[in-house]
Order: sequence, then C-alpha cells, then structure tokens
Amino acid sequence: MITGKNILLIISGGIAAYKSLELIRLLKKSGAHVRCILTSGGAQFITPLSVASLSEEEVYTDLWSLKDETEMGHIRLSREADLIVVAPASANMIAKMAQGLADDLASTCLLASDKPVMICPAMNQMMWAHPATQENVATLQKRGVTRCGPNAGDMACGETGLGRMAEPEEIFDSITTHFSAGKPLAGKTALVTAGPTYEPLDPVRFIGNRSSGKQGFEIARALMRQGASVTLITGPTALESIESVNTIRIETAAEMLDACKAALPCDIAVCAAAVSDWSAKQVQNQKIKKTKDSVPHFDLEANVDILETLSRDSKRPGFVIGFAAETENVIENAKMKRLKKGCDWIIANDVSGGEVFGSDQNKVTLVTADAAQDWSTQSKENVADKLVQAMIDHLNNTNVTSLNAAE
Ligand code: CTP
Repeated sequence: MITGKNILLIISGGIAAYKSLELIRLLKKSGAHVRCILTSGGAQFITPLSVASLSEEEVYTDLWSLKDETEMGHIRLSREADLIVVAPASANMIAKMAQGLADDLASTCLLASDKPVMICPAMNQMMWAHPATQENVATLQKRGVTRCGPNAGDMACGETGLGRMAEPEEIFDSITTHFSAGKPLAGKTALVTAGPTYEPLDPVRFIGNRSSGKQGFEIARALMRQGASVTLITGPTALESIESVNTIRIETAAEMLDACKAALPCDIAVCAAAVSDWSAKQVQNQKIKKTKDSVPHFDLEANVDILETLSRDSKRPGFVIGFAAETENVIENAKMKRLKKGCDWIIANDVSGGEVFGSDQNKVTLVTADAAQDWSTQSKENVADKLVQAMIDHLNNTNVTSLNAAE
C-alpha cells in the first residue's frame, strides 16, 4: 500500500533518531520513496551520511543552502510528499509546530505544507507530561496531525515513564494504516503468487509452465485497491510492476518458496502462480550440446508445494486461497485439491483448450468448504474484484481463524 508513496521524514533532535534509520529501511523495503530532513539537533545523534545511504536520496539539512534551494527548494520538498512524518518529534519541534514557527528547514517545510502530518514524539517523561507539551500536542491534534506513540518504558536518560519513541515497526504500521484508512482491507497484509516458475536445465534451457501472470497481478491490484498491503511474488512475466504493490520477481519454485516464507506472517495468501512441479536434480553449468544419435535425459525431482506449505505452516495466513488448473473433472479435482493442500478456497480453472493462457478473460468456479459457485466468463480484472469482494464479505461474517479447511 505504501509502494510508490513519497514520505518526507523529518528527524529532529533526540537519541531516538537512531531508530529512524530502521524506519527508513522498512519504508524503502516496502517500495516507498523517502526524503529526509535532518535538523541540526538530529544531526547530533545520527549522521547525514547514514540517512543518505539508507534513503538513497540527498539529505536536506539547511534552509539557507543555495545548492538545495536551487535543486529542490523547501516548498517543493513539502509539496511533493504524500505524508510528512516527524520522527523523532522532540518537545521543541512539537512546540514550534504548534506555534507555527519557521526558523529552520524542518519547521519551514511543515508550515509551508498542506499535506498530512504524523508525529512520533520522543522525550523525557517529565517533558512529555508538562502541560506546555500536552497543550501543544492537543493543538496539533485539533489541526488533524496524527500521532504514533510515545510508549512507556526505560529512557536513555535513566528514567522510566511515557516518552519513548514508538518502535520503527509500529511507526511503519501507522504509516501503512494511514494510506489505507477507510478501506475494507485496511491494516491487512496479503501475499499473492503469480506467473510461471522457470526451472533451469542448463544456462539456456528451462522447464516452465504456461502462464502470463495476468490473473495473479489483477488479484494483487484488487487487494491493494481495497486497502491491503500487498506483496506480489511473481515468476518471469512481461507484466509491469504495479504501483503501490511490493513486487518481488523470482525465477524458480525454490526462490518463490523462500520469498513466500519471508513474507509471513500475513493475513491473506492467494497462490495464483503456475509453479513448475519438477526441477532438474542437476543443473548443467555449460550449454548441453546436441548430438546426432542421442537425446539428453534429465533426472527430475519434485518441487515443494508452496500452497500446501503455506496452508500447513505454523504462521499460516488467516485466509489461504489456491487455484486449480484442470483439463478434466474440473470441479471434482478442485475439491480434492482444496482438501489435499489445506487451503480455504480454491479457484478452479478449466485450462483444457489452452485459451485462458495470456487471455484477458477467464472462466472460473469458486470452490469453498460447502459450495461450488460458477462464475460467468469475464475479464481477469473482474474475476479479481469479485474474488476480493467475496473474501471481504466472508471476513466480515466469519472468524477467520476458524476457516482452516484442513479440519
Ligand atoms: N502450487 C504451489 N506450489 C507447487 C505447485 C502448485 O503453490 N509446487 C499451487 C498453485 O499456485 C495453485 C495450486 O497449487 O494455487 C494448484 O496448482 P495446479 O498446477 O493446479 O496443481 P498441482 O498441485 O500442480 O497438481 P496437478 O499438476 O497434479 O494438477
């Protein structure tokens, strides 16, 4: 959900500034663009170089920098942001924001902006509890500034109380929630597999399945549109990455499995990939040469079933959906696959004619624990929207943890 979003992170003075480095890393990993302003106070605790290295962007520090003003300018810096996050927000920074002061680059950007702002306070517990700070925070809240933290606990100054900056993961979650607020899947994380996998035989040849990846990509897009934070793990396809979806491109089934495991825990998993069932036991380092009187033989081994692994994992997603590509006895086979693999729902595809591959249209049957519902032929985009809507309806009516089909 935050992929492609522009976050302006203001790091003001406080020992918690070191945690902001981890926040930058989390945001970047999710595909957000992060620009940072480091105040002179913040620069007492962390260096511009570490901020620049992690954000992969120039760090802005000085209101009067001729170079920065020529290249970017403080007005553009704040206007181009989708969200401004102040972390840590020191007592001084909060006071300046409440008063509308503009005596450095950070406060000037904040005053010159109409973008949503989130503060992550960090200060000594007495400073936090002081009526001045509390009134300033209330003022900011009235203006629509949101807040993450502070938390209670031990402080760098040796005291204990309320004032610790929220952990980077908490701030990251608040940012994610901000971007999906009001949508039915806000706050939910989803994993989607798509496309084929390629299992190499030698440097140029591989075993693969026919799959364009279109249906999986549409499902990722539909989940994202409904507010979920989506990781799409895809084999080789010609499709472009989707804005605001964290797209991970892999080649082999083993790589897809590793990427899926790394994406756990998550709330929803949809396995739409056409994973190759076998891979070569031994991949040749050099291209296998053709000879006139013999053909090569390959020893194959079975690939791990990713859908089944996810369905039976100790960190099983709350809702797991698989696909069943069948050429005969479509519904019967799909029902059996659902039980065998332990997923909640399965989408059965009749792939007998081969027309579905690469097409924008699909005809599927939704197989749940107690029903098989035929859907008419429609675009893969519509199938995705319909599936995600069915999931939302189901999640609203059911305690998801009781859904496991493996019972
Ligand atoms: N799947 C998977 N990992 C595999 C094989 C399949 O995650 N190694 C998933 C697919 O993404 C799909 C479901 O399992 O959601 C069913 O895939 P399908 O190709 O229809 O069935 P197979 O398990 O390969 O069985 P068969 O080829 O015998 O029909």
